[in-house]
Amino acid sequence: MADPTADLARRVDAYLTATLVGHDDALERAVADQQAAGLPAIEVAPVNGKLLHLLARISGARRVLEIGTLGGYSTIWLARALPVGGQVVTIEAEERNAEVARANLDRAGVGERVEILLGRAADVLPTLDGAEPFDMVFIDADKESNTIYLDWAARLGHSGTVVVVDNIGRGGEVANPATERSDVIGTQRGLEMLGRDPRFDATALQTLDLKGYDGIAIARLV
Ligand code: DHB
Ligand code: MG
Repeated sequence: MADPTADLARRVDAYLTATLVGHDDALERAVADQQAAGLPAIEVAPVNGKLLHLLARISGARRVLEIGTLGGYSTIWLARALPVGGQVVTIEAEERNAEVARANLDRAGVGERVEILLGRAADVLPTLDGAEPFDMVFIDADKESNTIYLDWAARLGHSGTVVVVDNIGRGGEVANPATERSDVIGTQRGLEMLGRDPRFDATALQTLDLKGYDGIAIARLV
C-alpha cells in the first residue's frame, strides 16, 4: 500500500467530503466570510466538523463548551447537534473573531443557542465554575495552554463528558521529543496528561485532510 502523498490525501478528503458531508450554504459562507475578514484558514476540515457534530449527537450532549471560536465554523457544527434547549458556550480571545463568528452563527440560525464569551480562555474558564456541567468540550485554542484547558474540562464536565482536542499531530512533530516548538510542547504535555491523569480515558487519531497532516485526541471523563 502506497504511503499517501499530500495530493492523494487531498483528493480522498474531497471525495469523502462530497460523499458524506455534501454542501451546506451556512457553513460555506461562514468559511468565506472568515476568509474575507482576514482570519486564518485554520477551522476544522468539513469531515472533522461533522465528526464533532456526530460525537455530540452520539453522546447526547446538551451543553457543549468550545475553547477557541475563530469564525464559528466548528461552533455551527456543534450547535446543530444539540436538542431543543441545548447550548454551546464558546470562548474567543480576539474581538474581531468573535464578531465574525456572531454573524456566521446568526446567519446559520443557531445564534440563540450559542453564547460567545470574549477573553482569554484561562481567564474566562474560572468564571464558568459552578455553571451547569458540560457534556462535551472541544479544545481548539492556543496549544501552549492545553493542560490548563484539559484541567478545566475535567472540572466543568461530569463522568461521561466527551473531550476532544484538535491539532495533536502537527505534521508529525508531536513525535519529536526534542521539539523546540512551544505549540508542540504544549500538545505533548496535553497528550501526556490525557494518558496519565486518572480523570481521562483517551485515545488519538492521526488525520490527513485538506488542512494537512494533523490529528485529534478524543477522551471520556471517567
Ligand atoms: C493552528 C491552529 C489550529 O487550531 C488549527 O486547527 C490549525 C493551525 C495554528 O495556530 O497554526
Ligand atoms: Mg484547530
